[in-house]
Amino acid sequence: MENKILDMDIDIIALKFGISGELISFNKYGNGNINGTYILEFSKDGDTSKYILQRINTEVFKNPFGLMKNILGVTGHIKKYYNDKGIDSSRRTLEFLPCDSGDYCFIDENGNCWRLYKFIDKAYTCETIDSAEKFCEAGRAFGEFQQILSSYDVSTLFDTIPDFHNTAKRFEVFKKAVEENSAGRLSEVKNEVDFVLSRENDTHVLTDLISDGKLPLRVTHNDTKINNILFDEKTNEGICVIDLDTVMTGLSLYDFGDCIRSGANKTAEDDPNTDNVGIDLDLYEAFVSGFLSSAGKALTDTEKEYLPFSAKLLTFECGMRFLTDYLNGDTYFRIKYPKHNLDRCRNQFKLVEDIENNMDKMKAITNKYC
Ligand SMILES: Nc1ncnc2c1ncn2[C@@H]1O[C@H](COP(=O)(O)OP(=O)(O)O)[C@@H](O)[C@H]1O
Ligand SMILES: [Mg+2]
Repeated sequence: MENKILDMDIDIIALKFGISGELISFNKYGNGNINGTYILEFSKDGDTSKYILQRINTEVFKNPFGLMKNILGVTGHIKKYYNDKGIDSSRRTLEFLPCDSGDYCFIDENGNCWRLYKFIDKAYTCETIDSAEKFCEAGRAFGEFQQILSSYDVSTLFDTIPDFHNTAKRFEVFKKAVEENSAGRLSEVKNEVDFVLSRENDTHVLTDLISDGKLPLRVTHNDTKINNILFDEKTNEGICVIDLDTVMTGLSLYDFGDCIRSGANKTAEDDPNTDNVGIDLDLYEAFVSGFLSSAGKALTDTEKEYLPFSAKLLTFECGMRFLTDYLNGDTYFRIKYPKHNLDRCRNQFKLVEDIENNMDKMKAITNKYC
């Protein structure tokens, strides 16, 4: 049998990463859509070991070495945290293998960038939120990630995607797209453009708080979707936060807000029927309770105060990015049909409105767990 993935010989990969033993299987794995993910199984002296092999998407992540430096620092910190507590860390964070050059990724002759890490067995990921309990557990896991990393020196982190959640800067980019109207779609989206312009003041609330030294910079995951948590098959505990490519300096509020945006909407983020869109307050409460049960000790009062606002802002920012891309002729987000970005934008803006209408309730819910 030929052991090749994208023209790359797996035996060479195994040799590069120092795995001895015989390759017994390899398959494409998981539902991720950024990196190519494969599971490899090796056998040696009757024992089998499983690894995840990933091809890093270097179109999105231009500096894979800087990115790996961030990931190794953060996973090392998490590992030490559990080991110091006498807890086995092997299923609590990702463990990468160095290759023969000492780097944690290597570039093959076709320019593909590969990394290898240990497969965490007897765990599963969820694509959708099937219960409030699951979402609460996701909140606890992402909160624990924040809490453990609250002692991490963020000045050592490489800025993988500068200004990722700088809403004020993203607003400037949006205004430029309106001015240029390069796809000729401006007249069609007048209401949506007005929606954004009327909320300009929101765009710099968090960046102002950072400038005034009122919000601490923290390690931020930046892709806090439920499918980036591994749950234990037996206990259903959220044991490991994965997909650490976008780990960089940011705010705890970014992780919180984005998870509410993607997880507590009553429908999918691209449901074209905006009558279905709204904030599910039960899911909001489940997530807040989980998140604060673990992150609460590490967060400042100002961070806690702005949790409901962050849900609104991150939703607004995302909708504004969909609208910007629609105005630019769909050059950034992958679309499945011509008005996909516009549907996504309208969906997110409806959610923003619903969050605004429920802001007092969301604040009251949050305060119960502070
Ligand atoms: N260490 C691991 N152990 C077990 N499964 C994993 C591990 N890392 C990733 N996976 C699985 O692979 C999928 C894709 O990995 P991920 O790093 O999230 O890639 P993407 O950036 O493409 O989303 C995950 O959703 C998960 O199911
Ligand atoms: Mg993922």
